[in-house]
Amino acid sequence: MKGYRLLCVIFILFHGLCSSSQEINGTSNKALMEKRAREKKILNIFSVVQFRNSPCQSTMTLVGFGVCCVFMISTCGATVTRNCSYIKNPGFPTAYTDTASCTFTIAKCDPSVCDFRLDFDQFTLNGPSGTLELNEGDCNTDSLTSTTTSGQVTPVICGGNAGQHIYLDAGDSATGTAALNFAFTDAGSRIWDIKVTQIPCSANYKRPDGCLQYHTGIDGRLTTFNFDGVVPQHLDAQQYNVCIRQEEGYCCITYTPCATPTPSFALDPAGENDLSKAMVDAMCMEDFIRIEEGRCVGSLNGRNIFCGGILSDANDAEANCPIQDCTQPFQVGVFTNAAIAVANGVTVANGNRGENQGFPPTKDKGGTMTCSIVLK
Ligand SMILES: *[C@@H]1O[C@H](CO)[C@@H](O)[C@H](O)[C@H]1NC(C)=O
Ligand SMILES: *[C@@H]1O[C@H](CO)[C@@H](O)[C@H](O)[C@H]1NC(C)=O
Repeated sequence: MKGYRLLCVIFILFHGLCSSSQEINGTSNKALMEKRAREKKILNIFSVVQFRNSPCQSTMTLVGFGVCCVFMISTCGATVTRNCSYIKNPGFPTAYTDTASCTFTIAKCDPSVCDFRLDFDQFTLNGPSGTLELNEGDCNTDSLTSTTTSGQVTPVICGGNAGQHIYLDAGDSATGTAALNFAFTDAGSRIWDIKVTQIPCSANYKRPDGCLQYHTGIDGRLTTFNFDGVVPQHLDAQQYNVCIRQEEGYCCITYTPCATPTPSFALDPAGENDLSKAMVDAMCMEDFIRIEEGRCVGSLNGRNIFCGGILSDANDAEANCPIQDCTQPFQVGVFTNAAIAVANGVTVANGNRGENQGFPPTKDKGGTMTCSIVLK
């Protein structure tokens, strides 16, 4: 019998051997700094607040005005066509207890949009009830499934996800859309309040392609979906990349399991294996994270795949070590296998992955790039 399986790590960016004379597309770092200083000055003078020159639609509720228009939508079947809209459950802030499914569509507010960013200000659905390998992590009563016309594959999520965010690919077409489908098969009290931001392709804060989540800043916390659920069990059948922006002057990133709860890193190596130890690479056949060329600080053992109940670069290690990655871009791939489905007492699928090296896609190291500077 095992406890919860979950994942929470903190990351901290580190100064590395960034050369100050490094060239980025032919522009020296010094020139970039000077350019940015000029831009900062201009922004400081004008304190710009931009509005698109289009009227706020009267069919929606305008609740704020400032950084951008704010709209609220809480009718199932509605389409969000404006930037900075909030998708809320019907009856919000009262919980939604109906079992009818509820779909929202997000349409580009402008052809220049590349991504929809969803910020889960509030997100409580029923989550998985079991913490054992049997039916582990299955969103079996409630689920949010996101689809896009661009064909992006996103994990199905449920449970408690307030504070999490995801990016949806709005696609190349000027009319690209995404759909959020909430589905329920059992009684429950659901609340959701999701901010939708439409991100232009030209934005310098745009996420890199292939990142479901994108963190900025020199430190932060990564958690699996449903980490804040009633039962903080990680969800099954997840495959996605979490990316962390390389901040200027920082060349390495270090991941350490969160101090609380304990354990905060617990991913099944295989079957009912011992979660008191670390496993790496080929030993991780079920649930794992991928940190390419990750290693304990000072160690020579670069690894790609990490699992078990301890985060370390050595199989059977019994103590966590900070895992450092000095190869950009900074990414953590999350992979969890499918739940073991049991029909009439017969195990019909075990979802073991066995071969883990293909997922998530290995990152493109960009040839000989050693340490680039990313503009904020
Ligand atoms: C460098 O320039 C090329 C072509 O303009 C562009 O596609 C690429 O994104 C640029 N790379 C960086 C790091 O700015
Ligand atoms: C949407 O709003 C955000 C936040 O104000 C802004 O950064 C972004 O440029 C806007 N998107 C479009 C397409 O105008």
